[in-house]
Amino acid sequence: MTATSLGRCSRCHQQLLTDGTCRVCRHRFAAATAPPAATVAHAAPRERLLEPAPPLRVPADRALDQVHRRPPSSGGRREKRPDTPRALSVQGLTKVYGDGGLRVTAVQDVTFEVDEGEIVMIMGPSGSGKTTLLLMLGAMLRPTSGRVVIGGTDVGPTPERKLPSLRASHLGFVFQDFNLLSALSALENVEIACNLAGVRGEPAAARACYLLDRVGLWRRLNACPDQLSGGEKQRVAVARALANDPPLLLADEPTANLDSVNGKEIGELLRRLSDEDGRTSLIVTHDDRLAAIADRVLWLQDGRLSAKRRR
Ligand SMILES: Nc1ncnc2c1ncn2[C@@H]1O[C@H](COP(=O)(O)OP(=O)(O)OP(=O)(O)O)[C@@H](O)[C@H]1O
Ligand SMILES: [Mg+2]
Repeated sequence: MTATSLGRCSRCHQQLLTDGTCRVCRHRFAAATAPPAATVAHAAPRERLLEPAPPLRVPADRALDQVHRRPPSSGGRREKRPDTPRALSVQGLTKVYGDGGLRVTAVQDVTFEVDEGEIVMIMGPSGSGKTTLLLMLGAMLRPTSGRVVIGGTDVGPTPERKLPSLRASHLGFVFQDFNLLSALSALENVEIACNLAGVRGEPAAARACYLLDRVGLWRRLNACPDQLSGGEKQRVAVARALANDPPLLLADEPTANLDSVNGKEIGELLRRLSDEDGRTSLIVTHDDRLAAIADRVLWLQDGRLSAKRRR
């Protein structure tokens, strides 16, 4: 299909294809023969991202109202009701790598809990066990002993084959080095994550647009990673981590490859997304500046929690 003089998309200003589909955000704004439609959330270019997205008409059979957004949160950290499980509960967690002379106790007897909507920072020197702890919390590494309970689900007894679906339903990950697919655009990187979360076709593209808008990248949808700045790449990675609308976001050194301005912006973005959605976040970092956005900082030293400091 080729681009014509049909004009430009009123939302992202890219050229429309012959069938009236925007070549970037892929929605049919002028489909005269469209089937009965239902409304789903869709993002438009806006300076003020906190405003609700305007509705987009898409075929009724593809309506994904529920997939696109969590129920609006009252903002900020929620009060815990006595009957709801903690977002995360960690008890006596220990990880020993290797054996004999090569034995390394990376994490030792770590216990803490995180409430829904809370942002908790885990800080500590290099080699103190931060990544090891995060991998165990993300059900990517089995502990030597101890317990991890995510939103009421005990990870320990969960069979290996069920861990991917546990991760898909509960967790989003942001990594230090972004881990974007270099041959794909920002939009496609997020769209693929939506596909893995079970959302396909047009709803996946719409959700990817919505998420990239929320992280301030509406105008860079079509850019590939090597055309993006470090801060922009990390924003794509954050959008991708939200593809499955996870209640718990885990981030390992999300600002380590960024300069101070971009690092601060990513920190503020994580705080805003957490506040808007009531999402719980656990962020491992060396970056003192990130402590400013945390509700709580846990200090890790030689694999042990050493002290807790409330903001
Ligand atoms: N796969 C492994 N096998 C053996 N030892 C490991 C393994 N992974 C990590 N370690 C060791 O466990 C300890 C904790 O490592 P970890 O990567 O968790 O630290 P970290 O706090 O994330 O460090 P950094 O800030 O440098 O990323 C270190 O002594 C490390 O050498
Ligand atoms: Mg690490």
